[in-house]
Amino acid sequence: MKKVFIRTFGCQMNVRDSEIILGMLQEKGYRQAGRLEEADVILFNACSVRRQAEHRVFSIVGSLKRLKNGTSKGLTRNTHNAIRNTKVIGVIGCMAQNYQDEIFRRLPHVDLVCGPANIYDIPQLITKARNENTQVLAVDRLRRPLLPDCSFRTNNLKAFISVMYGCNNFCSYCIVPYVRGRQRSRPLKHILDEAKGLAGRGVKEITLLGQNVNSYGKDSRGKINFVRLLEKLDRIEGIERIRFVTSHPKDASKELFRAMRDLPKLCEHLHLPLQAGSDKILRWMNRRYTLRNYLKLIEDLCRIIPDCGLSTDIIVGFPGESETDFQKTHQALQRIRFDEAFIFKYSPRPKTKAAQLKDDVPLEIKQRRNQALLKLQEEISLKKNKSLLDGSVRVLTDGLGNYFERDSSKTNMLQGRSRTNKVTLFAGKRDLISQIVNVRINRVTTHTLIGELNGKKN
Ligand code: 5AD
Ligand code: SF4
Repeated sequence: MKKVFIRTFGCQMNVRDSEIILGMLQEKGYRQAGRLEEADVILFNACSVRRQAEHRVFSIVGSLKRLKNGTSKGLTRNTHNAIRNTKVIGVIGCMAQNYQDEIFRRLPHVDLVCGPANIYDIPQLITKARNENTQVLAVDRLRRPLLPDCSFRTNNLKAFISVMYGCNNFCSYCIVPYVRGRQRSRPLKHILDEAKGLAGRGVKEITLLGQNVNSYGKDSRGKINFVRLLEKLDRIEGIERIRFVTSHPKDASKELFRAMRDLPKLCEHLHLPLQAGSDKILRWMNRRYTLRNYLKLIEDLCRIIPDCGLSTDIIVGFPGESETDFQKTHQALQRIRFDEAFIFKYSPRPKTKAAQLKDDVPLEIKQRRNQALLKLQEEISLKKNKSLLDGSVRVLTDGLGNYFERDSSKTNMLQGRSRTNKVTLFAGKRDLISQIVNVRINRVTTHTLIGELNGKKN
């Protein structure tokens, strides 16, 4: 029996794609390899959102030459071909679509390059690479077929469901529309069937995935929109929690916030990327909102759901970002007080509009701005967590976690997330895993709530 090893980089979309690929290969009789060395097929599902992530994959895959000839030096194309049929190495996903056959030039021991819209063909492509002893390139599509996905899942408690592929927004820094194509919403029936199937197998939490979930349905002629989809999913028996990522501020609405308040399963957490606090930079980013529009949205959200968990993405060092522009982002973070913020240093991406602008913020300044925002955010996260002390949160227990004391001694605990998406640790028996419990918070850190069991729901 052949074994497959997949390593995934990037967002949840890629995580879900890897799961789909694993499922398809298992149907063909493959087993999952615990270690890369023992696999017959080695796949890297890689991300293109920043250059650094791509470099990492080039270097990791580069080091695999040894698997094909026992040494990393002096490998000729012929040697590769001779062993192509024993081990198949593939680079797939967004990075494959971005580099296409350049990957073969830079990494001659790679056998398969396959973009996100071609992944359903992966089992046949692997067979072709092996049988024909050849390099296989599959990047001819940007439109992904709308198919029901295989039911295989790596986790029986929580599952991702893609609701759409691609993106139409063309934020000027972002490579996604070029590697994942235009927005395509999956048919409602596929999504509902998938969710019902998961519920039937005991999955309790689903996370809906899309580059801009709030525009679900806008590309199809039906009357469906994201809130209608949420209403239908909320009625599925067995599913206890529903989350979604990512939202674009231009499509988030009070209607969505009311649904988050009113639909019992929909969790009170919103990931709403702000990207920058300066209107000039937002305009150059082609985000199609101003800081004022964004603040108004947050105001609506907080009025409708006062304790909503809120997270964001920020890019520092976009071309032309002056110190004043950066200060506006800093002030916005101070004012909005997110629970969590992911801060990225701008990285020019091929084909994008912003790549035509001069990447004129020096790396040291990007780094300094990055550090300054991280520090500010840590203070805010800690303060926000402290405000939860002595309160209770409902946690879906998903496994074991560890709490490390300052003296680095370790306490074994159970771990899960609150409805607002906070990682929560508490002591309890293992049979609570997969249950929803109430936890009373008595300690907090920047990224974790720690508490004790306070009665069980159900
Ligand atoms: N450089 C830096 N960060 C980027 N992101 C997207 N493209 C780039 C880029 N070229 C960030 C955005 C997005 C997150 C997933 O990655 O903040 O929301
Ligand atoms: Fe990376 Fe974007 Fe592709 Fe996700 S969709 S893997 S974040 S490039």
